Amino acid sequence: MPFIAPSHNRVACIMVGLPARGKTYVAQKVCRYLQWVGIRTQVFNVGNYRRKIAGAQTDHTFFDPGNAEASQLRLQCALEALDDMIRWFKEDNGIVAIYDATNSTRERRRMLQTRLEAEDIKVMFVESVCDDEDVVLRNIMQVKLDSPDYAQGVDTETIVADFRARIDHYQGVYETVTEEESTFVKMINVGSRVVINRIHGYLQSRVVYYLMNLHIVPRAIFFSRHGESMYNVMGKLGGDSDLSPRGRKYSEALPGLISKHLDGQNLTVWTSTMRRTIQTGQHLPYPKLQWKALDELDAGVCDGLTYEDVEQQYPEDFALRDDDKFNYRYRGGESYRDVVLRLEPVIMELERQHNILIIGHQAILRCIYAYYLNYSHEELPYIKIPLHTVLKLTPRAYGCDVEQYRFDIEAVDTYRANPKRPSSLKRVGSSRGRPSATASVTSTGSAPRPPSQLRNTAATVPLPGTMSPSVNDSP
Ligand code: ATP
Ligand code: F6P
Repeated sequence: MPFIAPSHNRVACIMVGLPARGKTYVAQKVCRYLQWVGIRTQVFNVGNYRRKIAGAQTDHTFFDPGNAEASQLRLQCALEALDDMIRWFKEDNGIVAIYDATNSTRERRRMLQTRLEAEDIKVMFVESVCDDEDVVLRNIMQVKLDSPDYAQGVDTETIVADFRARIDHYQGVYETVTEEESTFVKMINVGSRVVINRIHGYLQSRVVYYLMNLHIVPRAIFFSRHGESMYNVMGKLGGDSDLSPRGRKYSEALPGLISKHLDGQNLTVWTSTMRRTIQTGQHLPYPKLQWKALDELDAGVCDGLTYEDVEQQYPEDFALRDDDKFNYRYRGGESYRDVVLRLEPVIMELERQHNILIIGHQAILRCIYAYYLNYSHEELPYIKIPLHTVLKLTPRAYGCDVEQYRFDIEAVDTYRANPKRPSSLKRVGSSRGRPSATASVTSTGSAPRPPSQLRNTAATVPLPGTMSPSVNDSP
């Protein structure tokens, strides 16, 4: 069952900040995190309403507070987004809404707060303050050059100048959130300082704790399942078996590939406490940490059985799992939902960290991968993460690039498709596509090649897995 909070626990996170302060970035991340833990969350981006109502590609003069006509339109956009948000709370049992706009004046915030509190929705302001000019310029370069606010072909200088002028208009009227106003969390200079005020309850404290862990330093997260295990060869679930001879070969080949993709940077290796992941990481010359939370989904009474055994011995359970794999809990064991909850501290820690290689298990990596790539709970248990394959995830401003490297070392296929619902799965949120590009690497360590259709691209392949929100701008 999804988490349903009583109505007084509904929360509206109202973003506050000048343009290019990471509000949309933060809004999208919080949304993805809360959806992943099962809390119904949606972002309402006022910039989207503006583009619909006033048209895209208005220049900076549209944001001049002295422009009365434009100011009226901007208010209309804010109100329409607010109405939709309140409707979503009421009609779709929303739990957390994120209202993504600059909300830079006290008057605008008071209006939002009054309307929301009249509906018994708690308000929390999430403000991003950043006076580091380098960060602001980098943000403009990273996300505003491709913004739908600018026509294709407009040169970089023109965009930067126009965007800076837009910021200046806001700067003139900007009022930071004060203690008297409401509950707030204020991130100062990308979280180098975080100020909180009157935070109440589970939802607000989860959001604050999550925000405190975020950073924007570029890094890579590598995923690998353990090498093929003896249980994999026998088709058995769970257990704590050793690697097979092919799995050992994989563990020997892994360091070559990882070092090639690190460019001399540091890395920490995380494994579970199970033999097969520890053995897979044994030749890697990096600091290692074992996490109990990374142990494979516990199959309870089915541990040590094959899927065929389970079908024969527990036919009802077998069918129930096919009906709802995410929520099905093995007798005496776990469900995927249980695993997501126990992985939450791992996600928090991953957000704080820099380069990490996780050597994990099929179900575990599905859960973590779903967090980064925004898969729904329905899709999550069917994500394909083959043995002897490394996935490299590079978090970007609004999503994640994925590269996949398959080793030339054979392994059994442990994937079991859902016979009842082969491909009717939809995804949460919005994205341009799914990670599908594969670059191969041989066990002898020759350079990974991008797939043929992408060969003309540079080392960082712009994979179809790159996600971007459909919304990325302010009012
Ligand atoms: P706008 O008001 O124009 O919509 P915005 O405040 O929503 O701007 P984003 O579009 O989210 O800004 O900017 C994304 C960029 O912000 C990314 O490059 C990201 O690395 C960076 N960023 C993320 N978090 C922060 C933060 N707390 N402070 C400053 N920059 C951040
Ligand atoms: O088969 C390998 C394995 O890691 C098992 O130990 C585990 O029970 C299973 O994969 C999880 O995958 P699924 O949830 O698809 O059965």
